[in-house]
Order: sequence, then C-alpha cells, then structure tokens
Amino acid sequence: MATSEATNTKTQELLEEESKKLEQLTLPKDQIMWFEYPMQLYQGFWRLNMISEMVPAFQTQFQALDTDIILASLPKTGTTWLKSLLFTIVNRKKFSVSVNTSISQHPIHTQNPHELVLHFEFEVYKNIHRNDQPDLTKIPIPRLFATHIPYSSVPESIKTSQCRIVYIGRNPLDNFISFWHFCLQFDECKSIKPSMEMMEEYIGMYCKGVFPFGPYEDHLLGYWKESMQNPQKVLFLEYEGLKKEPKMQLKRLAEFVGFPFSEEEEKGNVIDEIIELCSLKSLKEMEVNKNGKFYPWVENKALFRKGEVGDWANYLTPSMAKQIDEMQEKLKKDGFSFTYYQGNL
Ligand code: A3P
Repeated sequence: MATSEATNTKTQELLEEESKKLEQLTLPKDQIMWFEYPMQLYQGFWRLNMISEMVPAFQTQFQALDTDIILASLPKTGTTWLKSLLFTIVNRKKFSVSVNTSISQHPIHTQNPHELVLHFEFEVYKNIHRNDQPDLTKIPIPRLFATHIPYSSVPESIKTSQCRIVYIGRNPLDNFISFWHFCLQFDECKSIKPSMEMMEEYIGMYCKGVFPFGPYEDHLLGYWKESMQNPQKVLFLEYEGLKKEPKMQLKRLAEFVGFPFSEEEEKGNVIDEIIELCSLKSLKEMEVNKNGKFYPWVENKALFRKGEVGDWANYLTPSMAKQIDEMQEKLKKDGFSFTYYQGNL
C-alpha cells in the first residue's frame, strides 16, 4: 500500500473509532453551534466541524522532528502575539530587528503572524479532503507550528520526540471577553445584535467547556501538568506575564527554544526591539494586518483588539464575572493558580 493510502486508512480508522466512542457517551452527541459554526465533542474536546478531517489527519500523519517548536494555546489567549515573538526570536539572525537595518524588510511586515507560523488543524492539513498531503520538507529548520488541540490529543510523535512545546494561558475572564468580541467579527455574525441574554448564554456554554477546543480547564491543565513533569518539553507562559514582564519572559522563551540572547544582544537592546516590533500597536498598524483575511471568514484586523488585562470588567456584570471566575477554583483543585493574574473580583 502506498504511504499516503496507508496514512489515510489510519485517519479513517481513527475517525470511526471516535464516532463509536461518542455513541457510548452520555454527553451531547449532536452538534452544537458556536457563533454560527457547528462543533462536536471529539476525544473529550469540542472540535469545529470545519476541521473534522484535518484533526485526525494531523494526529495520524504528522511526524515531529526533534528540532520542531510547537506553540499550543486555546483561541484568544495571545496566540498571534506569541507567533510573532517566536518567529522573530528564532529567525533574528536571518531577519535582523536592529534599527540599523531596514526593519520593513522583516517578514512580519509582509505576512500576518498566522502565515508565518501555521496551525496544524487549520492550515497545514487544510487540503486533506482532496487527498493533498502537505509537503513539510521545505519548511526551514527549526520548523515552527501551532495548535489549539489539547495535550491529550496531540500526535504521539510530538510527545515522544525531543520537540518543544510553548503554551500560553490566559485568565478565563479576559479569554471569554476576547472570544466574544472576536466571534462577533466573523462574516456570518456581523448582522447579530448582541444582547446581555446572548452573552449570558455564551458564558453558560463557556463555563461548561462547550466552546472550540474547550473545556478550558482540561486544556490549560493538560499542558501545565506536562510542563511541571517535563519542564524541558513544555514551557508554560501566561499572557499576563508577557504583559507585565516582557523582557524576562522573552529571555525564558528564547532560552527554552534554544536561541538564548547573548550578552551583546542584551546590551544592544535586541530584546526591547523585538518587544517593540511585536507589540500590539506595532502589529495593528502594519498594512498587512489592517487588510486581508487570515481565514476566509474573518479579517486580520479582528486579531488585534485591546490587549489589556482586566478588560472583562468593562463588559461583565458581577454575577457573570463570578460565574466565569469559578473556573479558577477548578484549576486550584489541581494545584494550579496563575502567577500573574490574581483574579480579585
Ligand atoms: P483582546 O481581545 O483582549 O484584545 P489570539 O491571538 O490567541 O487570538 O488572542 C487574541 C488576543 O490577543 C486579543 O486580546 C488581542 O488583542 C491580543 N493581542 C494580539 N496581538 C497582541 C500583541 N502583540 N500584544 C498583546 N496582545 C495582543
């Protein structure tokens, strides 16, 4: 059997096995809509139907290299920011960020961060329904990828190889508010007139874990536990930490991915220049991010909103905030609390 046929059979088998498991569950089996997009429970997380073929293809076909660097996150936790930082740090010898060189030549000015670091389940395997296997051999090493898939469902080769994972977590209150605003920007949702009732309904779903790649606590705890047991495998970052101590967090990140800053670079302000280049203000003002779409249903500019910690207070009533904040209790039961987010309501 040819290799691609064999891998497709494996993908098919995985899909069949999963649908049998689903039939035995007492959880909702039918698809549920998240802002006009149907999703279904798959291996314990909510998978958008639009990626139903990409996810098992990624799981069965991807072969990690020891040099790979994989960014993992829930949507709306700072993925775009981390993609820009990771790309810039790893490629800084090739694409200088120094003010002495023409900064506009840096790829960050011509490509959206999601084009520079591809998501497995949205981009890398997007043509799999046409039996079109991605050619990953042309990607420069170290290859940078991203995923929203929970740790329990990432391919075995990611777990067993020496490749590294960088996870970014964000407090659930701001995560929900960011999600809410983002989804209302989808082409299909632009005519929706959001109300408090609608927000309450979505908060209810979010808190039950019913949102793309949720439940929240399973996602965060899965990667966090691995980072505790295996700190050379998974680096756990907090959005709030990157905001509060960007320099220190960038040093951790660069060191972890094997591209530490030299003393000379530190003295030469390279870290500050990277922070500046990848800041929300800088990315937001770039033509490439003001225009165009990164997925067919949403514009690039929707990726860059306020980037503030605590913005939830401008939208949530005290009882809504309390409901979401209870998720932090679930995290505490497993020994997790945010280092940079105290969550005082
Ligand atoms: P807000 O909606 O709270 O503003 P993701 O990239 O995972 O989709 O996360 C989106 C969130 O990250 C949005 O948060 C967005 O504004 C914020 N963000 C995007 N780029 C950023 C940057 N360079 N620095 C800080 N925050 C950024």
